[in-house]
Amino acid sequence: MRAPNRILDLDELETPAFRQVLGQMDELTSSDSISYLHPSKRWEYPWALERAQLSPRSGVLDAGCGASIFPVYLAKQGYRVSALDLSPPSGLDRVHGVSVGYVGGDLGRLPFADGAFDAVFCISVIEHLGFGEMAAALSEMHRVIRANGRLLLTTDYYEDANASIRYEGEGGPFPVDWSFFDAERLQQHILDAPGWRLEGELDLRVDWERTKPVMRRFHGYPYTSVGVTLLRV
Ligand SMILES: C[S@@+](CC[C@H](N)C(=O)[O-])C[C@H]1O[C@@H](n2cnc3c(N)ncnc32)[C@H](O)[C@@H]1O
Repeated sequence: MRAPNRILDLDELETPAFRQVLGQMDELTSSDSISYLHPSKRWEYPWALERAQLSPRSGVLDAGCGASIFPVYLAKQGYRVSALDLSPPSGLDRVHGVSVGYVGGDLGRLPFADGAFDAVFCISVIEHLGFGEMAAALSEMHRVIRANGRLLLTTDYYEDANASIRYEGEGGPFPVDWSFFDAERLQQHILDAPGWRLEGELDLRVDWERTKPVMRRFHGYPYTSVGVTLLRV
């Protein structure tokens, strides 16, 4: 039995539940020229959906949505979806015949009422903020989630966040300057953030020998992803 909060597991991509979600998302992304489904998110979205425990008309926010297909997928399931980014995509929802409330804005100052959402998804975004901005973003997401609502958060996870982490791109390797997490930093900056409680067990064991080469192919640096479900208390 897998822990509810866990590290990306490549084997899970082949389970029926994951395959069903990913099949629908692949179909959606292949029918427009705007959206994407990054390889590393192929685990993160099905994991987040599994953990969110949404009801048929839940109101959700995709915080830091980019031009991902995820908000469109959520709207297709019948959820009431808002999606915020510094630069949100234009018209992606209309292409797919659904309505997503796209908003341009900053995670540190969310333009939504207190308790507006049943759940917030924050998928591979938090590592792009500095640690100070991260605290502000977590505080804002806390404000806009209703009591006992969930924050489904995924982020890059590294064996040792103090190591020199290099991106091995076509133009040659260069240092990566965003905010990597290892177990210690995850605890300090996410799990210990005020007002949240981790829902269920967290298993941070990683088979780095297997994971690194695969993820390096996807992303150019040796990382994996972790998903945590935070309950707003
Ligand atoms: C790696 S992308 C992930 C996008 C999307 N969640 C996904 O699953 O593909 C990170 C996104 O975070 C957004 N972002 C970074 N800092 C932000 C901030 N302070 N406020 C809102 N969005 C931000 C970026 O514009 C970018 O679209």
